[in-house]
Amino acid sequence: MRLNKFLCSCGVASRRKCDEIISSGRVFINGQIAQIGSSINEKKDIVTLDGNKISLPNEFVYLKLNKPKGYACTRNDEKGRKTIFDLVQSDVRLINVGRLDYDTEGLILLTNDGDFANLVIHPKFHFEKEYYVTIEGQIKESELAVLRNGVVENGVRMPKAKVKFLSSDDKFTKLSVTITEGQNHQVRRMFDCIGKSIKLLKRVRIGQVHLGGIPRGKTKPMTAEEINSFREVL
Ligand code: URA
Repeated sequence: MRLNKFLCSCGVASRRKCDEIISSGRVFINGQIAQIGSSINEKKDIVTLDGNKISLPNEFVYLKLNKPKGYACTRNDEKGRKTIFDLVQSDVRLINVGRLDYDTEGLILLTNDGDFANLVIHPKFHFEKEYYVTIEGQIKESELAVLRNGVVENGVRMPKAKVKFLSSDDKFTKLSVTITEGQNHQVRRMFDCIGKSIKLLKRVRIGQVHLGGIPRGKTKPMTAEEINSFREVL
């Protein structure tokens, strides 16, 4: 088995990230430093990452987390901030499936199944990600049309979005925004382009998996139906 696939299947990170980890010299096979493109016999070879033995999990874990604002989606935050892994109790090493910004809240999936994580984040499958967006003030029909057609940022058109008006009062407007790409800060950048700043950004759905009523900071196991809903594209 290719080393990057093995590490990914062990839940270390996505396959691309595993290549970066291998090139940084942190992975050894039977005591020898591993190279990009190395293969292993997963039944016989001893693979270590940062000195710790890496093995295929006996059992996969799939969780939904309601990430609160003020948590970073990383294991070690370089700025020393709280991370989503401070919220999760697990005997196995989990990875986050994609990311949310530090100030974004809502649904994030966690697993030790690297193949599952790759499937969900792979751009070719275009899984929908739905966000509830709260902005200050009102929004014009013409501005909604710009968001729907794809805003132009520095001369480049961003992908189209599904945008639904949810409600508004004197101060705030609430919208549902659905995108299928995962560009960095995509939703915030879309609203920056029309001169609106986001007060609250919350992801409520990925593909067919809804956040539902999970309390902030808590996790819930995914059902078999939710897990398999992503595999329908294969
Ligand atoms: N878009 C953003 O701008 N931020 C997120 O966290 C997710 C999508």
